[in-house]
Formats: sequence, structure tokens, C-alpha cells
Amino acid sequence: MNTMLRSSDTLVSDPQYARLKEHLIESTGLMYYADKDVDLARRVGGRLATAGAHDCASYLDILCDPLRGPSELDALIAEITIGETYFFRHQEHFDALRDLVLPDLIRRNQASRSLRIWCAGCSTGQEVYSVAMLVREHFPELARWSVEIVGVDIDANCKRYDAPADGIHVRIGSQDDPAFLEKVVAEFGRFDLIIDDGSHQSSHIIGTFNYLFAYGLKETGIYFVEDLHANYWRGWRDSRKSFLDICKELLEHMNAHYQDTPPGAFLVEKPSAQPMDALLVPAITTMIEEIRFFDSIVAIYKAKLETVPFLVRGA
Ligand SMILES: C[S@@+](CC[C@H](N)C(=O)[O-])C[C@H]1O[C@@H](n2cnc3c(N)ncnc32)[C@H](O)[C@@H]1O
Repeated sequence: MNTMLRSSDTLVSDPQYARLKEHLIESTGLMYYADKDVDLARRVGGRLATAGAHDCASYLDILCDPLRGPSELDALIAEITIGETYFFRHQEHFDALRDLVLPDLIRRNQASRSLRIWCAGCSTGQEVYSVAMLVREHFPELARWSVEIVGVDIDANCKRYDAPADGIHVRIGSQDDPAFLEKVVAEFGRFDLIIDDGSHQSSHIIGTFNYLFAYGLKETGIYFVEDLHANYWRGWRDSRKSFLDICKELLEHMNAHYQDTPPGAFLVEKPSAQPMDALLVPAITTMIEEIRFFDSIVAIYKAKLETVPFLVRGA
């Protein structure tokens, strides 16, 4: 049977389909496909045909082959990630960046006159170059600043949009891999603006935030998460809490120093002798200055440590 003509139903009924699916989810972390057999089979079917595999077992052999495997996995990832991308995709993201976030950052960074921006997933250039165009067209004063844009994406094809001479860098890896995030931060230094428009899986958004907000974002930097509507979609909700749930908690944490019995691990004290001023609050309390919600977007402003009202004494 011509592999090209295989319907997704035929692929799903292949005796080795379950093993192939397990292998794909394990190697890519894309839990989204755990209950999307028809969708996954349609996309994988295209790769089977191109790779010349006649069934799931022979395609698995290709994926496990030390020579062909890595490049085939890259091609497959490109096929199965949520690849919707175009310039200025979702204009409201760019409106929020243009009208609020970038002006705030420009005010905050007057002294350093530098701006380092992280874009996940940068895709085939559309995200990083849209941000670059926004900066160039709407903020001409930034022509005299050092502006660096670092795009990350799981799809190896995106690497070709790496253009260091223009201040645009692309690194390939998964946003749910802390070692990868750490490597990018070590290479470029901390960022002023982190934009997460990557996998949209809630576990990934939360994992990326947990690492990057604390270790990848400068003090007074802004963490910007787009497409939050995906938090309400079953396929993308692969963790008990969504990122929006976490944001609601962050709101409580931001104000935890006003409570008289807050939970947490850090002893925070007002620099005064009042006994009631000693409070236990989570570390994150000391890091958040402001949280802004837009339609399907959140912008979390990181505090400058000296502006935190109380002093952190330790765990
Ligand atoms: C919905 S597209 C958005 C692309 C781009 N931000 C835009 O708006 O045009 C999502 C992008 O995230 C990438 N992606 C998916 N999973 C990822 C992961 N785990 N880590 C990094 N990037 C990922 C995809 O390859 C894709 O390019």
C-alpha cells in the first residue's frame, strides 16, 4: 500500500502505533498528543511517506537509527508542533508590547541604554523579526541602544534565521529543558524582556517561568506570556494548575507581606522594632512589583530588590 495514501485511521490501527506514539511523546515532551491520535497520525503519516517507511515499526527503526534518527526527529518535531506563525501574529500582543511594555522598559533602562529580549518560540523568524520591526519602527531612539533579540525554538529549522550581525540570535532547544534555558542565559546574560509564545502547554509555561523569572530575567525586567487562552483548552492543559492559576496565586504572593499569617519560606522583616512586622512570606513576594492582565496575555514586572518594602532575612 502506498504510504502516502495511508489514512490516519489506518495508522492508528497499526499494531506498533502505540509504541511509536509513546516514543514520540517521550522524545519531544509533547503530551498534547496523548489523546489526539487522529491529529498525530495525520501529521506523522506525512513524515512516514517522506522518510520511505511503510509502517510504524519501520518508522521507529528510522527514528532509532543513530545516523538518520536525529534529523528525522527534527523534521518530525517541525511537523507536529503547533506551528501557527506569521508576522505580527495576534496584533494585540504587539499592541501591548508597543503601548505599554516597551515604553516601560525604555524608561527603566535609560541608564544602561540596552535591551535584551528573549522570544520563545521564535519560529521561522516571524516572531523575532516582528519584534525587531516593532522596535525599529516605533522606537527610533533605540537605534542608539544596544538591542539584542534571542529567539529559541524546538524546531531545528529555525536556526537558519540566526543573524548575529543584526543582533538577532536563534538557539534550538525545548523551553521545558532547564539545562537549555540555563545555557542560553549563561551565553547571553539575563534578559530585560522575556516573551513566552512557545509550546503553550501549561506545564511548559510554568516550568519556563519557574526557572527564567528568577534566574533569566534582570531586576526590573518584564515577563510576558502570550496566548493564555490555550490554558482553557484541554489539549494544552497538561498540568493540574494552568499558568493562569499560578498567576492568580502570584497576585496573592505579591501582597503577602500585608497578611498577618501568610504561608511561605522566607522571613521578611520591616526595618523596625515592631514585633508584628516579622512575617513569613514566599520568596516570590520579594520579586514581583506589578502584574498586568490583558486579553489572553499577562505581563509580570520583576521588582528591583531595593524597592521591596521589607528586608529578606533568609529561610
Ligand atoms: C504557535 S507557534 C508561534 C510562533 C511565533 N511565536 C509566532 O507568533 O509567529 C509556536 C512555536 O513554538 C515552538 N515550540 C513548540 N514547542 C516548543 C518547546 N517545547 N520549546 C520551544 N519552542 C517550542 C514551535 O516550533 C513554534 O515555532
